[in-house]
Parts: sequence; structure tokens; C-alpha cells
Amino acid sequence: MEGTLFYQLLLAALFSLAIPILCSSSSNTKHFNFNVEWKSVTRLCHTKPVLTVNGKFPGPTIAVYEGDDVEVTVTNSVARNTTIHWHGVRQVRTGWADGPAYITQCPIGAGNTYTYKFTVLDQRGTLWWHAHFSWQRASVYGAFIIHPTTPFPFHFSLPPIHAHIPLIFGEWWNRDIEVVEREMNLFGGGPNSSDAYTINGLPGPFYPCSTKDTFIQTVEPGKTYLLRIINAALNDELFFAVANHSLTVVEIDAVYTKPFTTTAIMLTPGQTTNVLLTADQIIPQDHSTEGVFVMAARPYLTSIFPFNNSTTIAFLKYQTNKPYPTMPPHNYTLPLNLPAMEDTPFATQFSNSLRSLASQDYPCRVPTKIDKRVFITIGLNLQDCPQNQTCQGFRGKRFYASMNNQSFVRPSFSILESHYRKFKNNGISSDFPEKPPYVFNYTGVNPVTENMNTVFGTKLLQVSFGTRLEIVLQDTNFLNPENHPIHVHGHNFFIVGRGFGNFDDDKDPVEYNVVDPPERNTVGVPVGGWAAIRLIADNPGVWFVHCHLEEHTSWGLAMGFIVKSGKEPSQCLLPPPSDLPPC
Ligand code: C2O
Repeated sequence: MEGTLFYQLLLAALFSLAIPILCSSSSNTKHFNFNVEWKSVTRLCHTKPVLTVNGKFPGPTIAVYEGDDVEVTVTNSVARNTTIHWHGVRQVRTGWADGPAYITQCPIGAGNTYTYKFTVLDQRGTLWWHAHFSWQRASVYGAFIIHPTTPFPFHFSLPPIHAHIPLIFGEWWNRDIEVVEREMNLFGGGPNSSDAYTINGLPGPFYPCSTKDTFIQTVEPGKTYLLRIINAALNDELFFAVANHSLTVVEIDAVYTKPFTTTAIMLTPGQTTNVLLTADQIIPQDHSTEGVFVMAARPYLTSIFPFNNSTTIAFLKYQTNKPYPTMPPHNYTLPLNLPAMEDTPFATQFSNSLRSLASQDYPCRVPTKIDKRVFITIGLNLQDCPQNQTCQGFRGKRFYASMNNQSFVRPSFSILESHYRKFKNNGISSDFPEKPPYVFNYTGVNPVTENMNTVFGTKLLQVSFGTRLEIVLQDTNFLNPENHPIHVHGHNFFIVGRGFGNFDDDKDPVEYNVVDPPERNTVGVPVGGWAAIRLIADNPGVWFVHCHLEEHTSWGLAMGFIVKSGKEPSQCLLPPPSDLPPC
């Protein structure tokens, strides 16, 4: 007890010293250089050229303080187009630096350079960055850490943090990812699933020829660690647990939460979660456990599509006087607290436990009234196979996906530039349907007998500056219901309601949480259910809204969202930078 108090006092003293120094650094510019280059990487005994940043896989960590100006000069040294997206960074008025190809910029061509310039405003915690062109994010990704300039809001009630440990989950394909993507697009079937999941780029010992590629983290007994967990996988939601240890969730998508303790967590692709872990286990004197605990991630499965059902593991190694192992230990099993792959009840209960901190210092700015509600069905389509083609989707057709039965087609120019320069007659229009084309039993129809053709187009939802917008995302059971992680660029939103079955206009809004709903940039819409999100459209520009399962984005589960500039100069999109790449 006394020890804890001492640490708290020490911490408070350190923070009171640190604040003025950190605050005075607030308008600092932090510069980073990213070189996009090939690097030969071997996993599971397969060696292939992998697209990387600075030859690193996963890529380098960006760490800044809230309030910092950030400049990242990206040089493209490969014979491919590319872009980089700072996932979750709000990009207030700087949409030019957001990154999604053909939405906010033309790609950076081979041999060219573009400097992303933006300010990190009113956000703190763990985000990440990734390529936003084709399926390049399979290997081009890394952590984006925003250190707060004031103490963590939980520093008096929870143990002090000894160290921060990033854990980034990814996927590894033995095959060339460009070929996997191309085949999917050519034949209209589902993509080949990955060969392994990875933790910090390493698959761990459950895969063939992989034991040496295992992430091992040493911890000091009794100390508390902040795990910064990122799901960078392409196509899979993941459960994560640490054997014998509980996790205290303190932040999601760079927003503080009310701390709560759980046996495991679930993250969709695109989501991040900060948890505290205390190394509080007693190591048996006989060293039978070797002081090692398994950390494991495996998919949360809601789809009938073929998928990678394997488990990636890493080790938490208590520092003992035994020598540090170079190889993983031998007697280990999966954590008993790791949920089973179909554990929707756990995923639901976990998501329902997330609450904004909603304190005086970190208020929850959820709109209690709205100006506009948009109702959007999300789901899969089965398109008739064009004549003289072979299609490998279900029943010899092609898979697509859509929002309100619109499959989004990315143009061959930048929508943001077109919007800013007021170009006309280029095939894009701001008439995205604000409700489904017809009303049906979204989660109750026979999943394969409906006509499931989709409509292709580049339709955008346009709202004026300051609109308090509600979007109800309704899953459909066309082909199969599925948990879809919907990501909104340029804005955080509040998840005011979630449920299974069809959204009920009369009953469901009454139950909304408009006090402390979780605030994030990516929501897992429950399988065969719905989620209602609210946001204030206060960031002028063009923003991509899409499913963060990469196969679904490719199939068109996406839309563009325009927020018009407001009346005040401070409410306007800034002019484009001079080095913005041309198409
Ligand atoms: Cu992390 Cu448009 O995505």
C-alpha cells in the first residue's frame, strides 16, 4: 500500500515537472522520412519480396505529442503507385494529407515524393498508419503513437506504468499479395486466405517452420505495462488474451475509456485498444512454467467464407535469474481465457462494456439532438457473371458488396481535388441514397434466393458544415450475415446504439446511450444486426467511409462523404499543397 502511494506521489511530482516542458513543445514540427521499398522477408520458410517502409516489417513507429505538427516525406522507390493513410488522425482541414487513393489524392507514382503535413489535434493514444492503395497495407503498416501532454486520467487509480509495449496484429501470405488480389478481382471469388496471423510481424510457433519467428516480451514481476494493441490484419476480426492475466482497457482508437477489466479483448481490423497488464503471477519455484505466459490472437469468425482459422502466439517472459531464452519454451498451451472463434456472446459483451470516460477534462461530445439521419444497409452481393467470362463466386457468379445497394467505384482522379476545384460532369454525384432502395426484412430473407445484383457508381453523401449526423448501419443476411468493421475517415463518431436483427425506428432510439457512448473511428456492426453512430460533421473535405475488411472494400462496401466548408475561414478546407501528386 505504502509502496503504491509512494509511486503515485513520485509520479505526480514527475508529471508536475514534466507538464510545462511538454506543453511548451506543443507547436513542434516532427519530421519523418518514409521510403517505400522492397525488402526480402522470410516467414514459414517462404521468402518473397515484401513492400515495406524503410525496409522494416512491420514499418517504423511514429511517435509524437498531441498538438504536434507532423510532416512525413514519403518517397516511392518502387515501380508501383502508393499512398499512406494515418488511420484515425482527424486531419482537421487537411484532407489532402489523409491518404486514400483517388479519394483525397492521386497516388504517389514511381520515383516521386509527397510530404504529408498535418497537426495532431485533441487526440491521444494509439493509432496506426498504413498504405491505402490496393492491398499494400498487407505489409505497409506501423504504429502511430500520440503521447499526451497531461498525465493519463487513470494515473491515480491504477498502478503506474512501467513501460509501453506495442502489439500489432497482421496477416502473412506465402504468396505474392498482388497476385492474391488480382485473382480475386479477375474471377470474382473470395480471396485466398492468409497463411498466418502475426504479432509484430512474427507468426509464432504454431505455424510450420516458424518457431524462431516468435515475439518474446520480457517483463519485470510486479510491474504494470501499457499494451498498445493494433489490429492491422486485412480481413479478420481478432480475439486477444494473455494466459493467467487480466487486461484493463483504458483507451480505444486514441480516446480514453472508463477503465474496465476483462479476460480478453476483440478488435476489428482498423481498431486499436490500450490495455494495462500487471505482471502479477507468482512463478513456481520449480520453474515448471519457465516464467513464460502465452499471448494469443485468433479470429472472431462470423462469415461462412473460407478463412484462416489459425492462432498466432507470442510470449510474456517474466524476468527471472534464469538466462533469457533465445528459443520459445516448450510446454505451453493456448490461454484458457482466449474466446472460441464463434464466441459472438463474448464479442457482444465486450463491445457493450466500452464507455467514453466522459469526465470534466475529457468530455464526451456526443450530439444529443440530430439534424439528419441516414439509414444504410451493408452487405454482400452476388452479381450475374458477364457473358464469356468465368466467375468463381457462389453459383458461378461474382461477389460484390455495397452500401444501400451501391457498390462504390473509385474514379481515376482525386475526388477531393474535383470537389475543391468544382469540376463537373466527371461521373461523381452527391446523391448517395439516404435509405435502402426498397424496404425488406434485412436480416430475415432467405440468404441465397433474393436477387442480389448491385448498382455501381461514385455517389457521395453531402452535408453542410456542422451537421449533427446519425448513420444507422444495418447488416443484411444476403449470402451470409457478418460483422462488418465500418471506418469513417476525418471524424470520430459515437456508437449510441447496437443490436441484433432489424433496427426499429420506434423502439431502438429510446434506448440510445447519449451520456457516455464509446467514441471511435471504426465500429464493428454486429453480425446480423445494426449499429447507430453519431458525429458532428465539422471537418470540411471529402472522406472515405468503408468496411475495413479489405476484400469488402475491393467489392465496393464503401462510400464518399462530403462535408462542405463553413462560413468562417476557420471552417474551410485548406488549399492543396504544391507537391500534391497529379493523376
Ligand atoms: Cu485504415 Cu480507409 O483506412
